[in-house]
Amino acid sequence: MVNAAPINTEAVTAALRDFQDPETGRSVVEMEQVVEIDASDERIALTLELTTHSALIRDDVYAECEQVLRTAFPDATIEVRRAVHQRPALPVGQIGLTAKSVIAVGSGKGGVGKSTVAASLAYGLNRAGCQVGLLDADVFGPSIPHLTGTSSSRADLGGEDGKLRPVMSDGMPIMSIGYMVPPDQAVIWRGPMLHSAVTQFLRDTDWGDLDYLIIDMPPGTGDVPLTLSQSLPLTGAVVVCTPQDVALLDAVKAIGMFRKVNIPIAGMVENMSGFVCPDCNKRYDIFGSGGARKKAEEVDTPFLGEIPINIRIRTNGDEGDTDANHDDEMTASHFREIGYQLVKNLAETTRRSPPGPSLPVLG
Ligand SMILES: Nc1ncnc2c1ncn2[C@@H]1O[C@H](COP(=O)(O)OP(=O)(O)O)[C@@H](O)[C@H]1O
Ligand SMILES: [Mg+2]
Repeated sequence: MVNAAPINTEAVTAALRDFQDPETGRSVVEMEQVVEIDASDERIALTLELTTHSALIRDDVYAECEQVLRTAFPDATIEVRRAVHQRPALPVGQIGLTAKSVIAVGSGKGGVGKSTVAASLAYGLNRAGCQVGLLDADVFGPSIPHLTGTSSSRADLGGEDGKLRPVMSDGMPIMSIGYMVPPDQAVIWRGPMLHSAVTQFLRDTDWGDLDYLIIDMPPGTGDVPLTLSQSLPLTGAVVVCTPQDVALLDAVKAIGMFRKVNIPIAGMVENMSGFVCPDCNKRYDIFGSGGARKKAEEVDTPFLGEIPINIRIRTNGDEGDTDANHDDEMTASHFREIGYQLVKNLAETTRRSPPGPSLPVLG
């Protein structure tokens, strides 16, 4: 073997200089996320700090880091310890929201499981340790209060700072028009009122410092996406569809609409993709399957994953316990994959074009 690199702190730092933080795309060395380096003749131990924003992909990032070190120092024993790096979110646009990623979950039509996917995604990120907010932007048919078991809660309008206090579920702030008017009355709100409701929820809610704001969009191609795109820069939209051809056409329309208002597509999800019989474990593709994966490829969009029809998903929703979709492996594995693919794609996009020097390095 050729001369192995000497093992010392400088060499270890140099080996990790090009290793990018998945949240910012910047060097983990420059961002001071590599600490407590202990490097001697045969042993390298260090702590790599990652922010909670990267929680869903953290196993991959630690494995990659170890691989980089193993390649540079093939003879060393390597230990990469884990720790959390604190990096507050910056304001998004001019609206006063502080969040690192804002993700809209939309579809071309109703009833495809958009709210279920939005709420499950939010709970999945929340369980992983991310700071997550959930905004119900379906002002005509708010279903987030029902799916999260918070229908009887009311948003507190009287904060001293003039902010709306969101309703909390498992430590996660949620805002919905359903916390302000009874669901059957929301339908009387029209045009400008709805426009202002969504912007007001974004601007005036005490969201705190968020890693992710997940927005459950109304179905179709109405005003809300335009309102959102004018209010703040969105990180991306997740488009949910079912395998039927007609729903796929609707999904393509939804993708076109998001692109028209300059919201990047973060990916497609196929919901109600097959039914696994709980008695015999045989899979029935009631509406066909795999259509969304193919369609995603055709329209040059990442495919995030599929969710089969599962009675538990429906009953968890009706019992107001969408979080429980992450308890049962039959359902959890699908939602986990979607969250993982989403965060992985976001990280890849950031790594390809890391933000400019405006990002402050916080000590
Ligand atoms: N994969 C699934 N398996 C079983 N039921 C589902 C699934 N996805 C959604 N549902 C149920 O379908 C209904 C509509 O879902 P919802 O998320 O409200 O759709 P949307 O927001 O697109 O209108 C809900 O009762 C929900 O529990
Ligand atoms: Mg819905």
